[in-house]
Amino acid sequence: MSRNYTPITPELAQYVRDITLREPPALRKLREETENHPQASCQIAPEQGQFLQLLARLTGARRTVEVGVFMGYSSTWVALALPPGGKLIACDRSEEFTARARQTWREAGVEDRIELRLAPALETLDGMIAAGQAGAFDLAFIDADKANYANYYERALVLLRQGGLVVADNVLWHGKVADPTVHEADAEAIRAFNRKLHEDPRVAISLATMGDGSLLAFKL
Ligand SMILES: C[S@@+](CC[C@H](N)C(=O)[O-])C[C@H]1O[C@@H](n2cnc3c(N)ncnc32)[C@H](O)[C@@H]1O
Repeated sequence: MSRNYTPITPELAQYVRDITLREPPALRKLREETENHPQASCQIAPEQGQFLQLLARLTGARRTVEVGVFMGYSSTWVALALPPGGKLIACDRSEEFTARARQTWREAGVEDRIELRLAPALETLDGMIAAGQAGAFDLAFIDADKANYANYYERALVLLRQGGLVVADNVLWHGKVADPTVHEADAEAIRAFNRKLHEDPRVAISLATMGDGSLLAFKL
């Protein structure tokens, strides 16, 4: 492929981090404390968190929803960008992980802006739609089980206003999406999801390749 991708070497990645990252102390603390957690790689990269926060600011987000909270890293980045009275609906089914998220939200001073919904996320999203919240959201971040990405996306599109933004994480699936020898279920789910959005006339899209890749879909 031409025109022109600069390879991101470890040195260049470190440079980007050093020259751009403004990570709030509560998030740095969470990242450092969970460095050796077996599922630490679930967290988005710090640069992605900062990017997500910028997207929240650019969309003027007041009401946002996150699918896949883990220990609160990405939700805290977004919540810090919300104006007074702003809300983030945080969907996860793990009591254990989200207990740590609550601590991070408290430490970052955003606890009052986040409502945790502990349940399978599809149930939560369907419940929100049934409760009349269609069109009421500005930003949706999808970062949970890959098999349900397309389902989360469809619900998110209903919940977003026109001009709202869906952001889906892990759309590079650690590079496996482009490896034709890989047929594992999650890789296939992400490939199908990426194809679906490429063909979807309801949105304008772009794939930001930092971290494990974020697919952005702007609701037309
Ligand atoms: C990749 S982690 C989220 C990481 C988080 N966005 C961050 O960057 O800090 C995925 C999370 O999705 C949750 N999850 C997986 N399947 C789910 C489901 N069906 N419903 C609700 N939560 C789910 C897991 O419990 C886990 O906390």
